[in-house]
Parts: sequence; structure tokens; C-alpha cells
Amino acid sequence: MSTYGNGRRVAVVAGIRTPFARAGTLFRSMSAIDLGRVCVAELIQRFDVPGREVDLLVFGTVVPSVQAPNIAREVSLIPHLPKGVQAHTVGRACASANQAITDAADQIVLGHAHVAIAGGAECLSNVPILHSRGFADALLAASKAKTLGGRMQALSKIRPRDLVPVTPAIAEPTTGETMGQSADKMAKINGITRDEQDRFALRSHRLAWAGTSDGRLTAEIAPVWVPPRFESAVTSDNGIREDTNLEQLNALKPVFDRRYGSVTAGNASPLTDGAAAVLLMSEERAKVLGYQPLGFIRSYAYAALDPGEQLLQAPVLAAPVALARAGLSLDQIDLIEMHEAFAAQVLCNLEGFESQAWAERGGFVSPVGKVDRARLNVMGGSIAIGHPFGATGARMLTTLLNELRRRGGAYGLLTVCAAGGMGSAMVLERE
Ligand SMILES: CC(C)(COP(=O)(O)OP(=O)(O)OC[C@H]1O[C@@H](n2cnc3c(N)ncnc32)[C@H](O)[C@@H]1OP(=O)(O)O)[C@@H](O)C(=O)NCCC(=O)NCCS
Repeated sequence: MSTYGNGRRVAVVAGIRTPFARAGTLFRSMSAIDLGRVCVAELIQRFDVPGREVDLLVFGTVVPSVQAPNIAREVSLIPHLPKGVQAHTVGRACASANQAITDAADQIVLGHAHVAIAGGAECLSNVPILHSRGFADALLAASKAKTLGGRMQALSKIRPRDLVPVTPAIAEPTTGETMGQSADKMAKINGITRDEQDRFALRSHRLAWAGTSDGRLTAEIAPVWVPPRFESAVTSDNGIREDTNLEQLNALKPVFDRRYGSVTAGNASPLTDGAAAVLLMSEERAKVLGYQPLGFIRSYAYAALDPGEQLLQAPVLAAPVALARAGLSLDQIDLIEMHEAFAAQVLCNLEGFESQAWAERGGFVSPVGKVDRARLNVMGGSIAIGHPFGATGARMLTTLLNELRRRGGAYGLLTVCAAGGMGSAMVLERE
């Protein structure tokens, strides 16, 4: 057993998510808070969680509402939970749900909480659109002016270019490089071909479609009745393409580096709306309340590198630390869930796992090893299923543990790359 928890194990009791919908489609009338509330309410109802037992709710989101930045608190204010529940929001880019889960788990380990809900939500259909600095300055000056003339003078400073709205960018603030450009750059550095990326994307859709058709993925989904009429419920993801094929994928044009790039709309994860959450308990509390946990957190680790280097490669540094903390090696891991931001990033991460240079860079004598593809993302991943930034980590944890149980496996590894050059890894055990 690992030392995480000092003998106080954190049980993952259950997990659930909303369907994941491409941004601008099914959930365009909703917010991340709405999606988070639906998800947590269903988690509580489906798994018969006594609301009074919940001590803590931690949620992640990457593009928060300016009016309600603490999404965790807004989600916790559903009728199913007492108003005294502690609730805080965390941000670690695409690993925000992972951060929410480890924050909540740490609170359980410390004995500050016994039952916690952790996860995240994102609604990219509904992001804050900001005014430019010039427009904002003029508005502020006008509001402070004492006379009508003064107000008019302040507003007269507005130039046509100031009226262009500012939208959140998926770009590194330090380098200006978008995620897609980083993935393209990583593909070039590591010699990942366009065809390899398209094949991986196809695999993601095929496996996600299989998991949807046989009900394994849909079993983890809470139906969402869509406002304002609430006449129809969304019950499954809308980005998984049953009919995609290599020919279609190969024909798509690169979107980020249009001339020399290999990353396309087909081999990238799409912009997505959705929420996901897991129920965590101390092992003792789970026993007292009569729950049979899906599994336990055995270890976790985070890592980071220079965002100007290989932005999405930090899981390669985080995974060996999590494995070492778990006292396990890759060959003991039955299933691996690796976040698919881009097929190029997954293939680079897998290469990194095999690389002596990356091992030494992380302070290890030998690499993590070669991942058996039959154990990797066995029900597809974010390319097909979608990637609501703040929610993905919780979606992956639930799928990993449910599938580990179905296969009778003992250990799982979960990795996520994130903006800022960060990476997250977690090792799960079933018994
Ligand atoms: C890549 C990206 C720019 C594409 O956006 P988009 O152009 O709106 O994507 P679309 O869904 O409209 O797809 C574009 C085209 O490719 C086609 N396409 C996409 N995936 C396909 C597939 N698997 N098979 C066949 N065709 C596909 C679409 O049908 C569409 O065709 P059309 O133009 O004829 O309608 C956007 O999804 C993106 O920014 N993704 C990356 C997000 C990111 O950076 N995340 C952070 C990761 S941590």
C-alpha cells in the first residue's frame, strides 16, 4: 500500500457526468453552473447520498463566470445539500477536475471531511465576452465624470477598434502559442505523422462508439433536460462519430499551422460543454454508510515544465512520480486513461513514457515503459467523447474505475496534460 493517506484511504464511491455536447449545440442555453448542478443532483439521487453527510464540494472550471466565479458554491446550493456544505473552486486548466479530486481527497486524509463531492464543469457555449481596454477605460471615465459634458468627452475617446469584443483564448499567456499550435510543434519535434494521429483519432471514435452502443459509457451519464422549455432530455454525447473513417480524417485540412501542420478538427478534441463529478469518502465512512467503493486513490502527482517547450508533455514527468509513490510499475497497471487533448499529444506522451532522456530529466534511472495499447483508453477518450475543460478529469476517473471493475483489474493510471505546461497523474486501486 502507498503512503498516501497515512493509512486513511480515500474511496471513490461513485461517479457521474452529463452528456458531453459540442459547444454551441445542445447546451447552448445553459451555463457551467447549470450543468454542474444537474450532475451533482443526479449523483446524490442516483447513489442515495444523504445530503447531510456531505462535508465538502470542490469543483473546477477553466473559464469561470465573471458574476459567479466560485462555481463550487453555486453548485452546492442545490436543494439536495445543506447550506453549510463547504465549497471552493480550483483551477489547473484541463486538469482542474483532477485538482478538485485531490483537494477533496486531501481534506479526507486530514480528517477535515468524511464525505466530499469533487468534479468540474465547463460551458464553452457561454463564455464571458469582454470589452477592450480602451472601451472599458472610456466607460469608467464617463461614470466618474461629474457633468454631461465630461461624460460626453470621455465617451468621445472610444475608437472603432475599441468596440471589438475580447473573447477568452485557448492560448498561453506567456508565449501566445495556442494549444493546437503546441500540439503541432510537439508532433514535429517527436516525429509523429499525420497518419498516426488520424489513426489514433479513428480509434477514439470507434471505441467510444462501442462503449456508447453497449451502454457502458451511457450508464455514467445523467440526463439533462434542456431549458428554457425542458421538453427534451439529452442522454448521450453528440461528438462521437460512428461513421468516421480514415479517408475522411486524412482529407481534413490542418487548422492551426495551415501550411506545415498535421493537427486537424478530426484529430483534436472539440470545444465541449459538460460536467462530471465523483463521490469521495473516507474508507471508514463508506463502510458505515454501506457503500461498496469503486476503488481507492493510491497516489497522485503533478508536474510542470516550461510552457514554451513542449506544452503538453508534463504527464511524462508526473506519471513516474505517481507510480513511484504507489510503489507500482507500469506492467502492474491494468488500465490507463490518458486525456486526449490531441492525438499528437497522446502519441508524444506515449513516446515520452518510453524515453530514457525524459526518465533522467524526471530524476529516474529508467523510463516508465511501453504502454500496451490494449489497456489504453479502452472506451475512447476526449477526441471522440469531448473535453469540457473543467470536467474531463472526473469523467475519466469514473470510466477508469467502472471498467477496471468490469475487467476484474487491480490498478489503474490516469494522466491529464494541461495548459501552462502542467501534467497530472493518479494511481487507483480497486481493493
Ligand atoms: C480544432 C478546432 C479548431 C475545430 O473546430 P471547428 O472547425 O469548429 O470544428 P468542426 O467540428 O466544425 O469540424 C470542422 C470540419 O471537420 C469535420 N470533422 C471533424 N471531425 C471529423 C471526423 N472525425 N471525421 C470526419 N470529419 C470530421 C467536420 O464535419 C467539419 O466539416 P464541415 O466543415 O464540412 O462541416 C476546435 O475543435 C478546437 O479548437 N479544438 C481544440 C481545443 C483545444 O485546444 N483544447 C485544449 C486541449 S487541452
